Amino acid sequence: MTLESAICPHLRRDRTLPKSTPANYVPPFPVFSARFDEDMQDVAMVMLGAVSSEDNTTLDYDALVPLDRLLELGSPLHGHRTLCTSTDPQTLRQTRAWKAWWPSRRDFEDWRLSSGFAAWFAGEEREKEDIGWFVEAIFPSMDRFETVFSNAASLEGAAVLSSHMSGAIEEHGYWGSARDRFAVGQHDPMSAVRSACPVAGLAVRAEGPQKASGSPRPQQISSKRVIVPGQHNLCVIHSGQDWSQMTGSDRDLYLHTLHPVLERGMSFLAHQKVPLSQRETSAAQKERRTYGCYDCRFMDHLDASSLESSLSKSFGLAYFDSLSSLEAWAREHKTHLDIFNGFFKYATETQGKGDLRLWHEICVLKEDQQYYEYINCPPGTGMYVGLAARVNT
Ligand code: HEM
Repeated sequence: MTLESAICPHLRRDRTLPKSTPANYVPPFPVFSARFDEDMQDVAMVMLGAVSSEDNTTLDYDALVPLDRLLELGSPLHGHRTLCTSTDPQTLRQTRAWKAWWPSRRDFEDWRLSSGFAAWFAGEEREKEDIGWFVEAIFPSMDRFETVFSNAASLEGAAVLSSHMSGAIEEHGYWGSARDRFAVGQHDPMSAVRSACPVAGLAVRAEGPQKASGSPRPQQISSKRVIVPGQHNLCVIHSGQDWSQMTGSDRDLYLHTLHPVLERGMSFLAHQKVPLSQRETSAAQKERRTYGCYDCRFMDHLDASSLESSLSKSFGLAYFDSLSSLEAWAREHKTHLDIFNGFFKYATETQGKGDLRLWHEICVLKEDQQYYEYINCPPGTGMYVGLAARVNT
């Protein structure tokens, strides 16, 4: 099998940092990466959502109607969007959101202004509603995100904006392969930078030669509205699973063996965001803190017309203080190792013929490639963990 690098040809450089691909390495199965046109500078990956205002409550089905309408207005360059929902495993609050991708930050800004979204979201009325609203927008430059697809014909996320899919890539199937797929990783270790941590009690590591960058604090715009600043080299993973093409015993095997294990992994990561003051001090809880995960939502895709039925697709969306924290969880922690081993068991039992489609996009962002704003949202929503509990590390 001829293999190619996951890095787009126009972004390849002479490496100053070596890859960790083992010598004479042959990946265990083929996976593919999205290729983008040379003139694309960045991509907008945006969550526009609502969260229920009380614990143990669901959202009205029509909660997102204002957002649905606004997404139909303004600049037509919407790119691609998907409706999704999740329930916080601790508070049982429900989130409904549009995850949307625009072909550039500029296109997103054009839509934000021309659709009326900017004015609607800034309106004081939002703060009086019995609902939490949020925008979590990231704008990775092309060298700061990587994608992987188990099925080259199944486009999701930013790949919908790509020019084509690569052939089978070299950099996968060994620990450290995600890092090797980043164009910026050819010369930048993408280290965490020590700063005030958005999550109370979570120790942010200073790695490599970089120095402390000061103490970005959430900006409180009003008693109900907060903007959380970006953090250099923050790492965001969107890891998708699609079992819509699976039938019969393959589908049952996935749903009864692998999916529950995945749910446990996502729940583990979601539990890390609890402020230190509310945590038990058991060894297990202490250990959780070392993985640097600010929040994780395990979301189901919804059919936008019925709003109820799942499309047999899910994704984990998680914010980590750095790529190395995400790598550590994937490589070491029982919850991902169980997922990983469950996958090989599934692949063996289906003799590699199962049609489970997996994909992900991982971003490592500059501070100014992020925008997080929350209205009426409870602490623990995405990158917002509250003001009072916030501490500098
Ligand atoms: C790597 C399986 C979900 C994070 C891998 C690998 C496998 C795997 C087989 C190594 C293969 C390769 O590099 O090609 C799965 C399966 C999942 C799943 C079957 C779901 C059904 C997730 C989720 C996350 C995640 C939800 C994070 C939220 C990672 C990361 C790596 C990885 C970061 C790369 C580690 C590195 O490069 O060192 N996963 N995974 N995975 N997975 Fe998962």
